[in-house]
Parts: sequence; C-alpha cells; structure tokens
Amino acid sequence: MTLDLDRLDPDRIPAHVGLILDGNGRWANARGLPRTAGHLAGEEALFDSVQGALEIGIKWVTAFTFSTENWSRSEDEVEFLMWFNEDLLTRRRDELHQEGVRMRFAGDMDDSRIPDRNRKHMAEAEDLTRENDRLNLVFAFNYGSRREITEAARAVADWVSTGDLEVADIDERVLSGAMYVPEMPDLDLVIRSSGEHRLSNFLLWQAAYAEFYFPGILWPDFNRYSLLDAVVEYQTRDRRFGAADDHPEAQID
Ligand code: IPE
Ligand code: MG
Repeated sequence: MTLDLDRLDPDRIPAHVGLILDGNGRWANARGLPRTAGHLAGEEALFDSVQGALEIGIKWVTAFTFSTENWSRSEDEVEFLMWFNEDLLTRRRDELHQEGVRMRFAGDMDDSRIPDRNRKHMAEAEDLTRENDRLNLVFAFNYGSRREITEAARAVADWVSTGDLEVADIDERVLSGAMYVPEMPDLDLVIRSSGEHRLSNFLLWQAAYAEFYFPGILWPDFNRYSLLDAVVEYQTRDRRFGAADDHPEAQID
C-alpha cells in the first residue's frame, strides 16, 4: 500500500503531528463488543498511520495513548490498557527499530500505579532505538500537559535554587528544555478522531500555533490514507503565527 504523495507539497511537510486517538470505545459499542475490543482494533490504525508518516516524511509523531485522567476509568479497563501498552510496544519494537523509528515516552513515569515491568519495557524500547532518526514516535503515556508544565516549572526553580540559572535568564527556551522530551519541536498539526473537538490536556505548550484537524471517524477506522488527507488539508491552511496578512481585514490571530 503506497500513498499518492503527488498530492503533497514536499516543502510544507509538517515536522510534528499529534494524534489524539479517540473513539475506540464507541467503535466497539457500535459492534456490541467490549470497549477493550476497540483498543485492540486501534492498534492497527496507529501503526498504519506510523507507516504513512514514514512515507510522507514526517519526523515527529506524538500519540496520546494514556492520559493522567484515564486512571478514572474502570479498574478492568485501566488494567487492560496498562497490559496492552506494554504488550504492543514489545511486539512492535523490533519492526519499528528496523524502520529507523526512535521510540520515546512522554509522561509521568514515576507514578507508582504504572507496573514496574511496563516501565522497564518502555526504557528498553527507548534504549534500543536511541540512535534512530527517521521518525521520532512519542507515546504520550500517563501524560498530562499541565503536569508536564508544572514539573518543568519545578525543574527550573531547582536550577535557580542551586545557582545554575539566573531568574532573569528564564525564557521560553529554558521552559521548553525542561519538558519531558526537550528536543520535541512545536506541533504543526493536531488530529483528533471521533468528532470531539477538544485538546484534553494534550501538549498545551507545544500546540500554541498548531493547526487542528477533526476527522469525524472513530480511531479504529483511521489509517495512513486519513493521515494523508489531514496533511493535504493542513497544507491549504494559511499559517501566520500572529503576523498580519496582506488583507485590510486581517484576523487577530
Ligand atoms: C481512546 O478511545 C483510547 C484511549 C486513549 C485510552 P476511547 O477509549 O476514549 O473511546 P471513546 O471515546 O470512549 O469512544
Ligand atoms: Mg474518548
């Protein structure tokens, strides 16, 4: 399966695409299946999209796989998601490594509710793929943006208290460098499936000037072709980053 890359302007490939995987439960409900069946079906959608990202030449993809708020789901579903995240990364690790994908994890990994085995497998995947640079695939796992920014603020305060940093030198670069993945570039495009139009505490800092795309399909139905459609649409957007355009009725954003 290959994509029709002629649809794309090669000079405007987004550097970083965020994926908010949503709608697995509804996909399963619609089929009379348990919610977990929706998560299982979502795996293929994610890895087909990763193949699409490789074909398109996107260098960073961040997938929201488990949020700091997802602990409030039923005990069974949380337990399933912990197991599934671990199972998926051990099964997919080698093929991703062969494709030149660097696997990374962004989130609060010190949380004692994350099983030790899972934490160990995440560290192993990160180590194995550390030298790869074709695509950075970030799993936002036990991730919450407010927690990330709070932890970054605490790290910066610590640097000041130890005398490594002057208060006057705190700027946006310093804060960016204290995030979970310091080299992560700003998001160009955020895609949320399922028809919901929310950011849900996902990469608030990095999404400051992101374009948003909301395909009205449930996550298990998403694939590399949907990703290509999203990038084609993204390339039609007029990004101004706060500057005015040439029209007298220029917008304020
Ligand atoms: C997304 O699908 C899966 C996770 C990020 C855990 P949901 O589980 O949120 O599915 P809906 O929104 O209930 O349909
Ligand atoms: Mg949901």
